[in-house]
Amino acid sequence: MSDTFQPLRVKRKQSLTSDITLFELQHPEGLPLPVFTPGAHIVVQTPAGSRRSYSLCSPPDDTRTWQIAVKRDAQGRGGSISMVDDVQAGDLLMASPWNNLFELQTKAPAFIFIAGGIGITPILSMIHALRRQGRHDFKLYYCTRDKDSTAFIDELQGTDIQANVTLHHDEGDLNQALDLWPIFERPDKAHVYCCGPQGLMDSVRDMTGHWPSEQIHFESFGASTATSANDQAFDVVLQQTGERITIPAHQSILEVLRMCGHTIPSSCESGCCGCCRTNLIAGEADHRDMVLRPDEQAHQIMVCVSRAKSQELILDL
Ligand code: FES
Repeated sequence: MSDTFQPLRVKRKQSLTSDITLFELQHPEGLPLPVFTPGAHIVVQTPAGSRRSYSLCSPPDDTRTWQIAVKRDAQGRGGSISMVDDVQAGDLLMASPWNNLFELQTKAPAFIFIAGGIGITPILSMIHALRRQGRHDFKLYYCTRDKDSTAFIDELQGTDIQANVTLHHDEGDLNQALDLWPIFERPDKAHVYCCGPQGLMDSVRDMTGHWPSEQIHFESFGASTATSANDQAFDVVLQQTGERITIPAHQSILEVLRMCGHTIPSSCESGCCGCCRTNLIAGEADHRDMVLRPDEQAHQIMVCVSRAKSQELILDL
């Protein structure tokens, strides 16, 4: 991860839903911000000290402000709670330069966007970019629990875009999840971009198995799979130094290694980019990433999200 963090001022903070908050950020001296590419994210240092990735959801060529939206996850690791509860308009936030691991292939002839919940954020910047080019060759399927939990709903129901947007509410019932098969039954030249909870991304991956893989793109920021309520502590042993380190139930291997002074390459910290790929020498991993192929899983692990099924993992570190 880049350590060239710079301060950004919070120009505006606005509740979009009961648990999603928009932050509008600007240069502290009001200077123009860099143009970014659709699907980009920044890493923000939260007041509680942790670093979290947030997709930029504003138009990529708007250099006056950048926007991020944060879902307050009461069961999460505390980063989103700190952002929503502790950051106020006028505050300075330390943020990385933008980076893009979910790049829009703008030469594609058409696009299918599948967003779940807060996963709408990177897709929003893609839609802004396409619309600014006068393009309407996209379809957005946006899955949320209900109307009240749907961020950016007014923007997505505007008369000039509503024909491209399908809002789907499942009322929290898996049996009412969006039926993806009619969307993906017949492969075409469209590129598919999916961002949302793990279950939605797994479904899209299953339903697009007969599509060319280079047309299918995933992003999972905001849907942290690093820890969940039932997780247990386990040990990692670093083969090269012999160090034994306990990974508590509520922290990722990457976070704990970092706290212990180890530098592990990382970027997305959500199991998507492949940066933190680490060789696994022994032990059974609980793989939670979107990167490793089945034939790689016995010998490699993404330490930002994956955990252990065995009591210890021996890593090639
Ligand atoms: S940091 Fe991106 S997969 Fe781990």
